[in-house]
Formats: sequence, C-alpha cells, structure tokens
Amino acid sequence: MSHLIAPSLLSANFLNLEKDLEMLNKSEADWIHLDVMDGVFVPNISFGFPVIDLLKEKTDRPLDVHLMIVQPEKFVSQVAGAGAMMMNVHEEACPHLHRVVQQIKQAGMKAAVTLNPHSPVALLEDIIHDLEMVLLMSVNPGFGGQKFIEHSVEKVRALKELILRKNLSTLIEVDGGVNLETGKRLVDAGADVLVAGNFVFSSPNPIETIHRLKHL
Ligand code: DX5
Ligand code: ZN
Repeated sequence: MSHLIAPSLLSANFLNLEKDLEMLNKSEADWIHLDVMDGVFVPNISFGFPVIDLLKEKTDRPLDVHLMIVQPEKFVSQVAGAGAMMMNVHEEACPHLHRVVQQIKQAGMKAAVTLNPHSPVALLEDIIHDLEMVLLMSVNPGFGGQKFIEHSVEKVRALKELILRKNLSTLIEVDGGVNLETGKRLVDAGADVLVAGNFVFSSPNPIETIHRLKHL
C-alpha cells in the first residue's frame, strides 16, 4: 500500500473553510485530519462540534478526528455523529483506555490511540491488537508549524517492529512537522499515514504540495 496523506485543517483559513475544503476535494488528500483541542490537555483551543458537524456535507474524504482533550470518552457519540471514520484518543488522557477503544468501535468508528513524544511505544503492548491505527506525535501537541522531533523516526521503527512481531496490520500515522524531507524518512521507517498542516496550507500551491507528499 502506498502511504496516505491526511492534511490537517488546523492550518486552514478558518474564515473560508469551504474554499480550503474545495481545494482538498480536488487534491490527492486521502483523509482530512481534524485537531480538536480543549485548553486543558493541551495549551490551546481549536474548534469543536459546531464546525466538525458541517464538514461531512462538504467533503467525501474520510474524517480522521484527533482529540487533544481530557475525558475523550464523553464525546464518542458526538464524534460518530459528525461522520468520523477514525477517532484518535491520547493514551495520556485515558486511564481506562481499553474501555474507550471498545466504545469507539461500538459507535461504528475505527479506533486509534495517540502517543505524545515522551510516551514509549511499549505502552501499547497490551492494546495494539484492538487498534486500527496508532498516531505518533512528532511534536508536542497544541500548535501547528512546530519543529519535527528527530527521535520520532526511531519510534516509527520501534512501533513497526511491535506490529510485525504481533502479526498485525495496524496503521502508523505521524503528526507534526511533516514536510517532504521528514515525510520521506518517516515513510521509509514504516509510516502509513502522514498528517501535514502548516507545510500544506502555507505553501503557494497546496494541491501540488499534497501531490509531492503523496509521491515522495
Ligand atoms: C498538533 C496537531 C497537528 C498539527 C500538525 O497539535 O495535532 O495535527 O496540525 O501541524 P504541522 O503539520 O503544522 O506541524
Ligand atoms: Zn493532529
């Protein structure tokens, strides 16, 4: 499988989201990545359900929802109701992660667990067989446009080893500081899905930038 590209709407123009969605619909974006922040789990607030609920009418691309919030289990049915294909919850935000993962699946979505840069891959040893995807943060979550944390490449390799050792087909997504150079190294290390926000939306030709990320 060729890797997938999930542009993050966090770096889009919030005054004209429709235009950016039209651009994404014309592009080779495989998914649309949505970053929800609560100002508690991360030091920033982004957007919530009043915005997300409107998106499914404007795009046919699967929605990949990344919840950077405490107690994400409170919002499983709202995320499902917004038409999400994938719901990502942070391992660091879920003391009862196994239960949350089952709730996500029961609501008809694919389940992904996200790890912050300091959280080791080994934390997933006893849950990975229940996950469709693991999202590795390659920056500290909260803001777009931050510098890529180099150790993330090794972490992708370690996660790939764990997945192969367990004979699973869990996807590996990486989020933060992705550009053509870091993206290539991540895909070579085993990443299946690249999230890119700032690199796509601050480029002069986002459609071409998505094309280049897709064909690294
Ligand atoms: C960071 C978010 C990311 C962010 C990626 O907290 O989870 O999805 O938008 O941003 P870039 O690609 O700009 O580093
Ligand atoms: Zn994200």
